[in-house]
Amino acid sequence: MTFRVLTLNNISVRGLDRFPRDRYEVASEIGHPDAVLVRSADMHEMSLPESVKAIARAGAGTNNIPVGKFSKLGVPVFNAPGANANAVKELVIAGLFLAARNICPAWEYVRGLKGNDDQLDEAVEKGKKKFVGYELPGRTLGVIGLGAIGVEVANTAHALGMHVLGFDPQITVQRAWQLSSGVEQALSLDDLFSRCDMVTVHVPLIDATKHLVNANRLRLLKDRGVILNFARAGIVDEAAIIESLDAGKLSAYVCDFPTARVKDHPRVVALPHLGASTGEAEENCAVMVADTLRDFLENGNVRNS
Ligand code: MLT
Repeated sequence: MTFRVLTLNNISVRGLDRFPRDRYEVASEIGHPDAVLVRSADMHEMSLPESVKAIARAGAGTNNIPVGKFSKLGVPVFNAPGANANAVKELVIAGLFLAARNICPAWEYVRGLKGNDDQLDEAVEKGKKKFVGYELPGRTLGVIGLGAIGVEVANTAHALGMHVLGFDPQITVQRAWQLSSGVEQALSLDDLFSRCDMVTVHVPLIDATKHLVNANRLRLLKDRGVILNFARAGIVDEAAIIESLDAGKLSAYVCDFPTARVKDHPRVVALPHLGASTGEAEENCAVMVADTLRDFLENGNVRNS
């Protein structure tokens, strides 16, 4: 029997290689597919051929897929939890340094300089005063969501000397300690915000997490605080972020979502959804989800759905 897999995005070759050629046809145009393999393509308006038995996402989040609609049709949606956690963690940690050392505004300042080396030397002296930063040890980082990415971020921030407060309504204090011995469990989100200098979010976007970072919580954050969002744009109320930046309460918003509202603000660093964009993460996600999909198609096993 041959299985047909329709790909909606470029998927890492190492993942595609998991489908043996004698038993699989994998292509971006294919009739009567048994499964759909997708990375970022938005499937909300797509109608599925009746032949499709499963959707596989080469990534962690499934916001681009109407999971509820497909579940009602009996079509499972598989993902690759944890497969890109290290890649996202590295960018979040870079974000902490970007914010603490004013790296982006300082770089923009330098690129705007004109003149000869003597004039540039003068400008350097001015820049040194203008962009004085701070160091991470002793600062408190709040990590909201202690899944694979949140735990990686918490452990690395702790190793850098930060005090780490975690919050995840799904897990107990004991579990948090097993996952990350450096994390202190916050009592609530408000407790976390009121004790942190920097807060990073690592939760999926669902009704309960929409605008989880909002005006009330930003008011609780320590002065000159930083919000990092490498999860999904809607978890943060962007209007409240801009207001807080303009009021000088928040010093920076570092995110992976260059939306029209935030991308040009001088205290926002917005990247083009680069969290999982490393060769390694793309391979890990593609391999994990390909194996999960094969196990389903060949053996009927359901994991990571
Ligand atoms: C994820 O949810 O894991 C990321 O959005 C992955 C990606 O960039 O495709």
